[in-house]
Amino acid sequence: MEVIIQSDEKAAALLVARMVAKELRGNPHLVIGLATGRTMEDVYAGLVRMHEEDELDFSLCQTFNLDEYVGLAPDNPNSYRATMHRHLFSRVNLDLRNTHLPNGLAPDLEEECAQYEKSIQKCGGLDLQLLGIGQDGHIGFNEPLSALRSRTRVKALTPATLAQNAAYFGGPAQVPRRAITMGVGTILESRRCLLLATGKAKANIIAQAVEGPITAMISATALQLHPRCTVIVDEPAAGRLQGSDYYRWIFANEPEWAEFHS
Ligand code: PGA
Repeated sequence: MEVIIQSDEKAAALLVARMVAKELRGNPHLVIGLATGRTMEDVYAGLVRMHEEDELDFSLCQTFNLDEYVGLAPDNPNSYRATMHRHLFSRVNLDLRNTHLPNGLAPDLEEECAQYEKSIQKCGGLDLQLLGIGQDGHIGFNEPLSALRSRTRVKALTPATLAQNAAYFGGPAQVPRRAITMGVGTILESRRCLLLATGKAKANIIAQAVEGPITAMISATALQLHPRCTVIVDEPAAGRLQGSDYYRWIFANEPEWAEFHS
């Protein structure tokens, strides 16, 4: 795992967008795992800008979102399909047939989850997975005690997650209680993971996820097992990391990162 600390949330999100853009330029058929959440909005704004100003081309890539609420129609403004449409799909030249999210209205949810895994495999697996992190350490909607080898399935959301997402729905009572989510095992099979976290409220969970022991109580700790995972944080989210001097030194000195300075 590598940790990159940026001055503020805009710089952190822009760095993630530049890393995605570099991968996409290197492989126009890139299979990208996408995430929703406030933190990702600046990443998508950055990618939209690169599409508009630098001809970043999405026409051949495939996308798979991490999760979707059970019970919401794709055109419900709070569905993740609609959210992705607003922030990215409608603003770049993605072919909508190449954008995949679980269908939260599927009559047979178990079958829907199995099919989702199959579609990822059919596309050759995930090349790059974007991740946010919940304050309970979830990645996707893998809430505490998610099996570290779990696959796409239906998960009940915790009260903490309901509270975290309440603002979108006008209160925690209105948030759907369940979601379809890629499993921790699904995420660990992606070839590369980029986790972005910003703000002081994430400082504790980031320290636990990066430097704490691996535990199913904090799904993000499973990323310590991933062969190529980069965690990008802003200064406030890095506030409780013990090893931050070392992480800064690696970023400043490893040739791989030179092109991303400034
Ligand atoms: P946030 O959500 O970006 O809105 O903080 C992240 C998450 O819960 O995965």
